[in-house]
Amino acid sequence: MQILKFTIKTAKQAGKLILNETKKPLHVWEKSKGDLVTNADKKSEKFIIEKIKKNFPSHAILAEENSFTHPGHKEKFFNSEYIWIIDPLDGTTNFAHHLPLFAVSIALFKKTSSKSGYLEGEVIAGVVYAPVLGELFYAEKGKGAFLNGKKIKVSKTKKLEKSFIVTGITPEQKEKNLPYIVEMVRSSQALRRLGAATIDLCYVACGRFDAHWEFGLHAWDVAAAALILQEAGGKVTDTKGGLLDLTAGDILATNGNIHNEMRRHLIPCARSSVG
Ligand code: IPD
Repeated sequence: MQILKFTIKTAKQAGKLILNETKKPLHVWEKSKGDLVTNADKKSEKFIIEKIKKNFPSHAILAEENSFTHPGHKEKFFNSEYIWIIDPLDGTTNFAHHLPLFAVSIALFKKTSSKSGYLEGEVIAGVVYAPVLGELFYAEKGKGAFLNGKKIKVSKTKKLEKSFIVTGITPEQKEKNLPYIVEMVRSSQALRRLGAATIDLCYVACGRFDAHWEFGLHAWDVAAAALILQEAGGKVTDTKGGLLDLTAGDILATNGNIHNEMRRHLIPCARSSVG
């Protein structure tokens, strides 16, 4: 089956499943302080994993609620050329509070090295589906980015002081992000925090925001949406401007025009947060 078609279909079906879950009693657990998981996250992930296993049995899977928990999974992860990177429900805290800003995120990563290096390669397809909003973002490497079938582009804003910025606050990095938030409130037109990194990044991709930064994200928060943003003409690096490492967690994603200015504002701020 064609990869993108499969990924879109699966993300939409998972989104529908999540919406069905909202009609049932909600169970919420804390994985660690402030980091929530619900029955909907688990069901969505199980559904997506089963679909992938059935259609692509030789591919490995990295998923938020699952990671390396299955026997033999780790070995397959290192040996497989393809890895599916899944966030079955990004924005779990929003979902648990009945806020409609949440999404299913599915990416396909292709290793470029024949060595079994950890995530050495590139994302070749990515889908982010926000079921309540009815917004389906998708991209394939080299083929542009789309929202509900229409090609999307990043904004043209050239100055940070005119920029509409969004950030995220991972439970473990609250303190670290505080000085950056103060700095960006001062330097930008306005700052928002929506609560779902995949949506933040896709909103930069379609020009609603001019930039997003966050510390401590995971590969599943970023994989699909970073490709969508790049394919929409945006720039994604780590917060120091270096190559984005999906496992490193820190991300700076912009329309490209304000990337260096954002980076310059983040670096002095990083120094003052530790000193
Ligand atoms: C979280 C959201 C949030 C971000 C967190 C993520 P989850 O994902 O994307 O916006 O700030 O860091 O972990 O846990 O809701 O899938």
